[in-house]
Amino acid sequence: MLPANLASRIEHQLPVKLVEIIHTAGRIANSQHQNLYLVGGAVRDLLLEKPNLDLDIVVEGNAIELARQLTEVEPSSIITYPQFNTAKITGNRWSLDLATARSESYPQPGALPTVTPSSIETDLFRRDFTINAMAICLNPDRYGELIDRYRGQDDLKDKLIRVLHDNSFVDDATRIWRGLRYEQRLGFQLEANTLKLLLRDIPMLDTISKERIRYELECIFSEEQPEKVLRRADELGVLTKLHPALTGNGWLAAKFMAARQLSIPNSPSFSLYLALLAYRLTPSQCEILTLSLGLAKSVAQTIRQSTTIKTRLEALTNPKLSPSDVYRQLHHYSATAIIANIIATDSPVAQQYMETFLHHLRYVKSILSGDDLIAMGVPQGPQIKQLLEQLHQAKLDGRVTTRQDEEKLVKKWLIS
Ligand code: CTP
Repeated sequence: MLPANLASRIEHQLPVKLVEIIHTAGRIANSQHQNLYLVGGAVRDLLLEKPNLDLDIVVEGNAIELARQLTEVEPSSIITYPQFNTAKITGNRWSLDLATARSESYPQPGALPTVTPSSIETDLFRRDFTINAMAICLNPDRYGELIDRYRGQDDLKDKLIRVLHDNSFVDDATRIWRGLRYEQRLGFQLEANTLKLLLRDIPMLDTISKERIRYELECIFSEEQPEKVLRRADELGVLTKLHPALTGNGWLAAKFMAARQLSIPNSPSFSLYLALLAYRLTPSQCEILTLSLGLAKSVAQTIRQSTTIKTRLEALTNPKLSPSDVYRQLHHYSATAIIANIIATDSPVAQQYMETFLHHLRYVKSILSGDDLIAMGVPQGPQIKQLLEQLHQAKLDGRVTTRQDEEKLVKKWLIS
């Protein structure tokens, strides 16, 4: 049975400093005759006894003014967003997002909503799922009081993800991805009618901008086990909205797990996960995916390089390559693109070459510079570049180690 008043949950689950700040915020709101609430994911996670230090706070009044007064009493860094009437206060490993209670209406599906100040009741009604649509009052006289108009507590108990109304995915189709993310993260299920609506509204994902889809993918890749979300998305026909040739099967799960094992501290980058997700696409399919997500240049480059290496892996399965051959094959590519291939390839020989390149070969440098060669009598011109390359190769292959070795080699070339 969940407690009727959550004051003690707040005190036990949040760090002392954060509790102190919440108390202060509640007092300030009270002095201004405004109501203040903790809302959304933080309430859900308090009830589930899961850690969450990114708190969303809603005030029935002026959020920026409250945030400013709060940081006067509790000095912390603050950023305000007057165009949205919100403010963000950050501390050591925690954040408070303060917003004015608002209602939202969607001028057209997928567009950003038109916002008007409102009460907490309407603010909760604009939210995605019942488990995210609860609030806890933070004013001193009502501190810890849970507001749960949509039976979020019941759905938490029954492990259900349920929308608040039938048009929820039409208003904002990113909720399709959010629903799958919560379902898989929490081990919940989409409630039957919600699942029906989700399937009906999959085409509405076309109304969402590439930036917002990319953000959803970033959120998925920040989950502990993103492969679960992708597998479920595949099963329901959502994944193909990213690209029709994508699959989220056991291969992907195994590769994502391997990526975590290889990454320190256990959280692979967005580019690495995406390179693995896109790995089985052809280069031209990859290009379409990259464009549809509006990726940053460096990320797009990594994805592109990862598939290019894949098409050339055959050459790296020859067990007789010299270190300089391996260097020549790989030195144009980013470390992430190579790591994606180490994880994805089935060839232990290619894997070994790529690991040697990453851990050793890419750091090998010859000692002599262009100026040294000129001082030794090599005429200026393209020859300098060629000789430096040959020195580098000799160093990679272990034919020279010291400065004297390199000088000896240059003298030999000069004579010949
Ligand atoms: N929200 C929503 N619809 C969206 C995005 C957000 O209704 N498309 C609401 C939900 O009430 C959500 C809150 O805004 O709880 C905060 O959003 P966000 O920070 O994205 O989610 P959290 O619930 O905090 O979840 P997470 O644990 O994934 O950060």
